[in-house]
Amino acid sequence: MAAQISTGTSELRDITRMERIGAHSHIRGLGLDDRLEPRANSQGMVGQAKARKAAGLILKMVQEGRIAGRAILMAGPPSTGKTAIAMGMAQTLGSDVPFTMIAASEVFSLSLSKTEALTQAFRRSIGVRIKEETEIIEGEVVELQIDQSLTGATKTGKLTIKTTDMETVYDLGHKMIDALRKEKVIAGDVIIVDKASGKVTKLGRSFARSRDYDAMGADTKFVQCPDGEIQKRKEVVHTVSLHEIDVINSRTQGFSLCSLAELRDQINSKVGEWKEEGKAEIIPGVLFIDEVHMLDIECFSFLNRALEDELAPIVIMASNRGMARIRDRVLIISTRPYEPEDIEQIIKIRCQEEDVNLTEGSLAVLTSMASQTTLRYALNLISCADIVAKKRKADAVDVDDLRRSVQWLKEQQGTMIFDEEAPPQDVQMQI
Ligand SMILES: Nc1ncnc2c1ncn2[C@@H]1O[C@H](COP(=O)(O)OP(=O)(O)O)[C@@H](O)[C@H]1O
Ligand SMILES: [Mg+2]
Repeated sequence: MAAQISTGTSELRDITRMERIGAHSHIRGLGLDDRLEPRANSQGMVGQAKARKAAGLILKMVQEGRIAGRAILMAGPPSTGKTAIAMGMAQTLGSDVPFTMIAASEVFSLSLSKTEALTQAFRRSIGVRIKEETEIIEGEVVELQIDQSLTGATKTGKLTIKTTDMETVYDLGHKMIDALRKEKVIAGDVIIVDKASGKVTKLGRSFARSRDYDAMGADTKFVQCPDGEIQKRKEVVHTVSLHEIDVINSRTQGFSLCSLAELRDQINSKVGEWKEEGKAEIIPGVLFIDEVHMLDIECFSFLNRALEDELAPIVIMASNRGMARIRDRVLIISTRPYEPEDIEQIIKIRCQEEDVNLTEGSLAVLTSMASQTTLRYALNLISCADIVAKKRKADAVDVDDLRRSVQWLKEQQGTMIFDEEAPPQDVQMQI
């Protein structure tokens, strides 16, 4: 059975990167220069220089495959950018290095056991880069002939294609005809057809047709007619996570008497074989567990064991608690409270992101509120105050709009469930 393990393609790709946007949508990276030094204000990132630099160094080690199986703790008070830095890391990693982000509370779901949820998160964070040979057809289209029955129900066709050395005629099935039509392929186009998937790619117009004015647009790209064989083998590389391989194989094997744990063992040893044979490369990615103080002892002992496994990602945890239990085993990145200048910059960036104008006075008030409460609370006020301002048809948020928003949020407190960083009871407005 292990011989048929399939790796599928990109259909499940989107699961690996759970994107949490909203509050962090302004973060586009870590804002580091080529030497991994933090820029003062770049890619939506401001201040917290040491932690950003440390995050950049860790990413570099991940990319070089030098740090798998290690755990890192981002420790610091609420609203000091722990999650933001993790988002920046995710955006900095190449698209085929997996980055998985979970909140510890997600582990306690009703449908999965804690260890199964963590196992899945681990396996989403390990990539397998697989090299495969596929057959392609590459050449210049000489003639494309499609015959359609009167009702349009049946289609047949012939594709004549050539290189500088040969010419071949292929019979076309339904799907191929649709694919060629979708790409608007006509005689004189140089195309590649992937035989396994039927995917058609247009490379451009053949130089030999550069005088065919009517078939050209302003942006027509001209290419040489290929030489050699029309049909060739080509190496393609794609990356899937271990979790994706699990999902595909548990689906295709249906009701077999093999447990999930057995299936995973088989997949691991198959992947190991591929690695030996040079067909695959293991890419340990990053698993980010936010609010990690929510995990219980059982989860931590699972994490400890899982990190010792041969196939382990790097695990980054974030917490605003002491975490004495794990502190001595992990690398620690600390985040610190922001200086008012940093806070002001971050508020400005968020206002740009949300397309909101603040008066000078309200910027100063919001900055001082952030210092007294949390940055997150202050940033949350922006959109609320903007609605208040728009109601009175003003084009900038003033101090009174902020005051009303604070009032409104306080009133909502009774009816809504806030997280631990709910608006403090007594927000003082210093003006
Ligand atoms: N250094 C920073 N640069 C830009 N935005 C930041 C920075 N630090 C925090 N933020 C933003 O401030 C808010 C609170 O930060 P967050 O990352 O949620 O803090 P934590 O996870 O430490 O509690 C978020 O909207 C975040 O995107
Ligand atoms: Mg956070």
